[in-house]
Amino acid sequence: MPVPLATGRMPVPLYWQDASSTCYWQDASSTLLAGCQFHSTGRMPVPLYWQDASSTLLAGCQFHTTNNKQQTTNNQQPTTNNKQQTTNNQQQTTNDQQPTTNNQQQTTMDTLDAVYQRRAVKHFDPEHQITAEEEQKLLEATIQAPTSFNIQHWRFVILRDPELRQKIRKELGNDQAQMTDASLLILFTADMKAWQKDPQRYWQNAPEAVAELLVGWMGPFHEGREWLQRDEAQRSIGMAMQTLMLTAKAMGYDSCPMIGFDIDKVAELVKLPEDHVMGPMVAIGKKVKDAWPKPGQLPLSELVVDNSFST
Ligand SMILES: Cc1cc2nc3c(=O)[nH]c(=O)nc-3n(C[C@H](O)[C@H](O)[C@H](O)COP(=O)(O)O)c2cc1C
Repeated sequence: MPVPLATGRMPVPLYWQDASSTCYWQDASSTLLAGCQFHSTGRMPVPLYWQDASSTLLAGCQFHTTNNKQQTTNNQQPTTNNKQQTTNNQQQTTNDQQPTTNNQQQTTMDTLDAVYQRRAVKHFDPEHQITAEEEQKLLEATIQAPTSFNIQHWRFVILRDPELRQKIRKELGNDQAQMTDASLLILFTADMKAWQKDPQRYWQNAPEAVAELLVGWMGPFHEGREWLQRDEAQRSIGMAMQTLMLTAKAMGYDSCPMIGFDIDKVAELVKLPEDHVMGPMVAIGKKVKDAWPKPGQLPLSELVVDNSFST
């Protein structure tokens, strides 16, 4: 155990400081936790970003029943302070969304509220069913995410089969309850070679000169740069995941992004094509328990660099 500092805060390793693994995987059985082999490197997930969780909470893993309300209120403060801006955002969002959705009136949350209120929720109502219309709306919003060259690398695998989800949870997913209990479980994959596959269609509605330029540039930009093709695919996945999770929040749902599963074995299960890459899953559903207090964001002073890293 790390030695407490004079401030009473633990000088724990960066990010998740001294959160115990049982806290992170609170729903996983202890057997699984003891033997967990993550990411095929055999390393446990480093417990990131837990600096504000008290050691009592950490010791007892009492996250859901203690102080959640207060913490939630604190989390929301920045949103309230930014209300003026948010209002503007909302107007803009409303206008932007009109052409793409018929259910506009259901999407009522300000953008900043959705950003601050989205949490990685672990407990969903297994009885709740999402409607086909809601699913469509979530996916339509998700594909508004930006992608490099508008390639839209994403291929969303919707894990619908309850048996498949049970198998992933129990055998490959560290017994994470979200995998079976969420109303929707989406595996994010992406096509690394999408840039080669009839790229004109990505620019079909653009002015001809623009389409010609971008489509012509797409090949040389990607050609022979396998690492870039992979990076681009993963960037697209990340953008779409956040878009999905914010949309879910705006629609009254919660979500959990998850990479804590055996990536290779799940790839086999879903018959992932060779030129595709695996991303995380996102669970969407009705939460039955709040997330634990927001684990703590690093100060911007540590994260923001002016102009260049060197002094
Ligand atoms: C790519 C990615 C993978 C994650 N994998 C898991 C996971 O397997 N299980 C889980 O419970 N949470 C997972 N999380 C959630 C993070 O732990 C969570 O986002 C982080 O602690 C911050 O908490 P917040 O999202 O509630 O603000 C993942 C998050 C991301 C972005």
